[in-house]
Amino acid sequence: MNKYAAVIFDLDGVICHTDKYHYLAWKALADRLGIEFNETINDRLRGVSRAESLEIILEKYDGFLTAEEKANFAAEKNDLYRAMLQNMSTSDLSAEVRQTLELLRQKGFLLAIGSSSKNTPLILQQIGLGGFFDKISDGNNITRSKPDPEVFLKAAEYLGVEPGRCLVVEDAAAGVDAALAGGMDVAAIGSAVEYGKATYNLDQFADLLKVVGD
Ligand code: BG6
Ligand code: MG
Repeated sequence: MNKYAAVIFDLDGVICHTDKYHYLAWKALADRLGIEFNETINDRLRGVSRAESLEIILEKYDGFLTAEEKANFAAEKNDLYRAMLQNMSTSDLSAEVRQTLELLRQKGFLLAIGSSSKNTPLILQQIGLGGFFDKISDGNNITRSKPDPEVFLKAAEYLGVEPGRCLVVEDAAAGVDAALAGGMDVAAIGSAVEYGKATYNLDQFADLLKVVGD
């Protein structure tokens, strides 16, 4: 029997590259407030909720924002981000990712999304994967953001698969920690590789096929 029955994918930075839009939207607002913001700080936002991302950005802010101002700031970032998402299309899903997902399904694995993003349905729709995954667990059904394991445990529960038989795919340190805390193996890709704590490190998405076996 295969060790894994299901694969749970992070979305931003794994299935598609919305991470660049998150960066640009936060950067535009940070510039306006005169807050230092760069790729290094941006890496800390991977996998982290919108509200918590804002708190990380405000570490470099000298002024004070009320709760209402913070909520407005986060809403404005989201409006900007969603406007950028309108430019995404099926061409933002690479052939490698699409083919790998199809092969995993053919091999019989259940496939789910485990993302902190409340924009998950829109993004999947834009890239032509609306309705593709067996289950979706995202920012709309969780109360605690990664590195808490809630989003992945919910995905496993929705799939009806025990955590020990799920493999998570992540590009974020917070996501690697979340998967491990949930008792799941995790394959790191992109910037999560250098974190060094994942069960497997992938050079490219299609390497997943070697990791899961038949
Ligand atoms: C995660 C991203 O997938 O979603 C984070 O890696 C982002 O950078 C988080 O902050 C929340 O996204 P959204 O779309 O709900 O603002
Ligand atoms: Mg990610």
